[in-house]
Amino acid sequence: MAWTKVAERADIERGSPLAVEVAGEEIALYWLDGEPFATSNICSHAFARLSEGFLDGGCIECPIHQAQFDIRTGAAVAGPADTPIRTYPCRVTGESVEIDI
Ligand code: FES
Repeated sequence: MAWTKVAERADIERGSPLAVEVAGEEIALYWLDGEPFATSNICSHAFARLSEGFLDGGCIECPIHQAQFDIRTGAAVAGPADTPIRTYPCRVTGESVEIDI
């Protein structure tokens, strides 16, 4: 595990989820209440990229069947998904966003 720069802070401060690939893993980055968050970018229900979904408060809505996941914990909070998604420790260092992967 190591902190790895994945984006510039300005890239996610606009509020839209951002897709990045790190060490072969697809990850979605979010900005919420002045903090960065990172989750798997792949829905746990079927194959869909959550970065193409809709961020509503602290929840990302899958663009395919509208399952919702809490970006802070990865918990599935609305079906049809019932399996959580992975989350990653995330921090801002200067103008960089880093995740621990
Ligand atoms: S693929 Fe995400 S809810 Fe079905």
